[in-house]
Amino acid sequence: MIQINRIHDILQEVEAFIPKDVYELEQFRIKYLSKKGILNDLFTEFKQISEQDRKKVGQEINKIKTLVTSKIEQFKLNFSKETTVKQLNDISRPAAQFHLGSRHPISLIRRQLIEIFSKLGFSVAEGPEIEDDWHVFSALNFPLEHPARDMQDTFFIERNPDVLLRTHTSSVQVRAMQNLPPPLRLIMPGRVFRNEAISARAHCIFHQVEGLYIDKNVSFADLKQTLLFFAREMFGESTKIRLRPSFFPFTEPSAEVDVSCNICSGSGCNVCKYTGWLEILGCGMVHPNVLENCKIDSKIYTGYAFGMGIERIAMLKYEVKDLRLYFENDIRFLSQFQSVI
Ligand code: DAH
Repeated sequence: MIQINRIHDILQEVEAFIPKDVYELEQFRIKYLSKKGILNDLFTEFKQISEQDRKKVGQEINKIKTLVTSKIEQFKLNFSKETTVKQLNDISRPAAQFHLGSRHPISLIRRQLIEIFSKLGFSVAEGPEIEDDWHVFSALNFPLEHPARDMQDTFFIERNPDVLLRTHTSSVQVRAMQNLPPPLRLIMPGRVFRNEAISARAHCIFHQVEGLYIDKNVSFADLKQTLLFFAREMFGESTKIRLRPSFFPFTEPSAEVDVSCNICSGSGCNVCKYTGWLEILGCGMVHPNVLENCKIDSKIYTGYAFGMGIERIAMLKYEVKDLRLYFENDIRFLSQFQSVI
């Protein structure tokens, strides 16, 4: 039979209990709460108790149960805090692994381009991605019927007056010439948009870097030497360049520039299609109409401009054959690029 005195003794014991460690706490739990523990015994004995003592004894046993569970919870918490504090204070513990990301290959090339051209005194300018017709086409001497103005090539946001996503960074040239007095020596990196089907070789979003140099007596020879310097810095000391006559509405004369293939050193491979040359950029002398459109006197000033695709440079440098890899954010691809700058 349960005696009320025994219950009080148990209660006192529980109240006085302070465990030294988790082990003692676990012993305490087993002693009171396990199947063969004290509380189960008390509840079994409780069944035989007389009607008149039932309420009182029941209350006392419940008091013990509540106290036991709250003690266990409280000390569990204390011990877990203590162990973390102890662990933190252990200076011989190995440091937690910290995974550093890597820079995106497009950012790496962008930074490298900025660095190379900054050696020649070029500074960086940027312009908006959402543009109007004037900055993307009209000021750059595009005739009204030019195919680039077509819906098939350009993403329009609104028509008449046209609001569109810039199709090239040449629009930043116009903004720079309108807003800054010459001489100007700028490179202008940025995102551009074209209405193209996505494939291994084309994407509707990509990156370009535009270059612009406006001053008195700027010549085509200056342009050629600047591009040779760039090609050697980017692809290696022995890189050669060649210029082929071309056409752009905003430059006259215009040229396309090839670099000697850095993969086969010019002897011919499938990347350069066995020509030994890789096309990397368009360039030319800024058309007098463009200078005048931007309120620069074309009788006093001349200048050159060039534009290139960052993805194209990255593909050649890293020998990546599928453009889509640059946009998929696949960590297996991205983690292969280590940042040098
Ligand atoms: N804007 C041209 C394009 O997107 C690239 C280009 C060619 C830029 C010649 C220039 C240039 O500044 O002079 O294809």
